[in-house]
Amino acid sequence: MFTVDRKLAWLIFDRCLSYLSQEEIPLQTGGDRQGLDAKLAGLVGPAGHDPEQVLSAFFTDIAPAVIACDSPRFLAFVSCVASKTSILFDMVVSSLSLHGISWLEVAGPVAAENQALRALADAVGLPAGAGGCFVSGGSSGNLSALLVARDIGLGRLGGQCERPKVALTADAHASVSKAMHVLGMEPLLVPADDHRMSAPALMAALGAATRPDEVVAVVATAGTTNAGLVDDLAGVAEIARQRGLWFHVDGAYGGAGVLAPTVRRLFDGIEQADSVVIDPHKWLFAPFDCAALLYRDPPAAKAVHTQRAAYLDAIHDDSKDEWNPSDYAYHLTRRARGLPLWFGLAVHGTDAYRDAIESTLAMARYAADSVSGCEGLTLVCEPQLSVVLFRRDGWQWCDYDSWSARLLADQIAFVLPTSWDGEPVARLCFVHPETTKQMVDEIISTIAP
Ligand SMILES: Cc1ncc(COP(=O)(O)O)c(C=O)c1O
Repeated sequence: MFTVDRKLAWLIFDRCLSYLSQEEIPLQTGGDRQGLDAKLAGLVGPAGHDPEQVLSAFFTDIAPAVIACDSPRFLAFVSCVASKTSILFDMVVSSLSLHGISWLEVAGPVAAENQALRALADAVGLPAGAGGCFVSGGSSGNLSALLVARDIGLGRLGGQCERPKVALTADAHASVSKAMHVLGMEPLLVPADDHRMSAPALMAALGAATRPDEVVAVVATAGTTNAGLVDDLAGVAEIARQRGLWFHVDGAYGGAGVLAPTVRRLFDGIEQADSVVIDPHKWLFAPFDCAALLYRDPPAAKAVHTQRAAYLDAIHDDSKDEWNPSDYAYHLTRRARGLPLWFGLAVHGTDAYRDAIESTLAMARYAADSVSGCEGLTLVCEPQLSVVLFRRDGWQWCDYDSWSARLLADQIAFVLPTSWDGEPVARLCFVHPETTKQMVDEIISTIAP
């Protein structure tokens, strides 16, 4: 019934190849609910349709209803710009139905995923025994790491704590707060006037806490989403070590910077982390659904995450040197989502990834310099990584909103304002190695007075 249709297969390959071969992916403008509902009407029902018609409807009506994150003009949020090589290999992962649950079932894919994880662990500076797994995103990575932190912390407190606490700044990603909510943990807010956690501020916050012993973890951010700033990782690591806190580094966006020599020193101290999250689907050119979660001490994570059931006993033979990615995060069934990254790394080499990251850093620097040299525009903070925040003097929210809408309508760029110390500002986030100076100039010229 669900057999391969060779004609359809070639049509799909052809469509995908045409898309990937475009010199510049067009930005496009998204879609509207009513229009899409009308186009989709009747497509899914008891009876099927001619596959070529459905495919054609998809490519004509559905696929264009996006703002393309792989366009070099997409500078909002943190985009996903996968290498073409890794995208093609993603098709292999699907075609071969490769999951990444257990060594027993999929030893080869797990070994390859672990090779990619090891490359990241080496760049971070984690010891030889470090390891983990790929999860769906930074959010689930943060949740999984904090579950380990919580259980270890509770163990230390003999279970005598209602709601263990996590030290973090207001600039930590929203997923960390969400994870704390899920896990019954509470924040210990560390003030950060310059939006970076510092060791003295962490010490002061711990000193002022009513029950400092209830603080079980500290989350430092290596590349805040809003501004791309890196906390003082070495200083925070030192305090975490002294106080016996779990040290988690959220490098979902910025962690890829460990591969870039020009900014590597900002990450000093990351090698002391108990857990680190880096999303290759953000700044490391892997397709969506790929976040690396690494632990310094994987057995500690395994003790927390392993799901036990009679039907799973076969995959949990602890006498064997086997690695089940399912044991290291809140998941069981999982796609072998690290393989597209692995393939890209193996084909291009890590130097190519380094160069691609460096080119986005250079473009951010170029944008920052252009802003600084433009009367009426003010850089609101020096970029450390690839996010540039700036103000058009005198502008209100509505001005930024209409600027953003105009740029999208004119297909110049997708940029969104954000807020900085309560004020609206423009934000450009560079993760596409093919964003050009000319594109940046075009954007700046639309906001310069
Ligand atoms: C620092 C940071 N942490 C976590 C996340 C959440 O990652 P994801 O969207 O992959 O769940 C993001 C997303 O941008 C982020 O920038």
